[in-house]
Amino acid sequence: MLAPGARVLVPGCGAGYEVLQLAASGLRAVGVDYAPAAVELTRARLAQAGLVAEVAQADLLDWTPAAPFDAIWDQACLCALHPDLWVAYARRLATWLRPAGTLILLAVQVEREGRLEGRIEGPPYHCDVNAVRALFPGELWQWPRPPYPRHAHPAGFAELQVVLARRADQSSSSRSPSTDSTVTPP
Ligand SMILES: C[S@@+](CC[C@H](N)C(=O)[O-])C[C@H]1O[C@@H](n2cnc3c(N)ncnc32)[C@H](O)[C@@H]1O
Repeated sequence: MLAPGARVLVPGCGAGYEVLQLAASGLRAVGVDYAPAAVELTRARLAQAGLVAEVAQADLLDWTPAAPFDAIWDQACLCALHPDLWVAYARRLATWLRPAGTLILLAVQVEREGRLEGRIEGPPYHCDVNAVRALFPGELWQWPRPPYPRHAHPAGFAELQVVLARRADQSSSSRSPSTDSTVTPP
């Protein structure tokens, strides 16, 4: 559960649905997208709804926030990036979040035939949970136990909802992932 007034980043905010939802819930939302049309649309929707949130136009791979966030809601942003960029992006996400902050990740599940031959197809790129685990390892992130909620997306694929907590004590590399307790979703 996110505390009222918590600062929450929506990377790749697109049409702004999550930014509006967060702003309407009393959270301080910040949307970032490199597409001018996405930024304009999000700002227009906020104005129309009488809601306030910060919306910035920037490339997430070359952007630094003014201060760390309490939470990050990655709704299909990781899957929009080519997998060659995932390690750099995941490292940036970790630096944008305060210790013990929450990462809400909606990992797109879109398993195409080409993967059987090793093809990388997208966007959206399939975010296999094993890859997500490697990007956000257990010694740095507290993982809830599976199964994770699976949501249908209007575009026809599914999204796996994983809510991680950035470990406050990141020196705890000996901690076994199997002993992790469940993180309460927001
Ligand atoms: C699949 S959309 C997700 C939009 C929204 N979160 C949703 O679920 O409807 C991905 C968004 O990420 C943005 N994006 C992709 N790469 C980006 C980058 N490097 N920097 C900033 N935004 C990026 C795209 O412009 C797009 O709006």
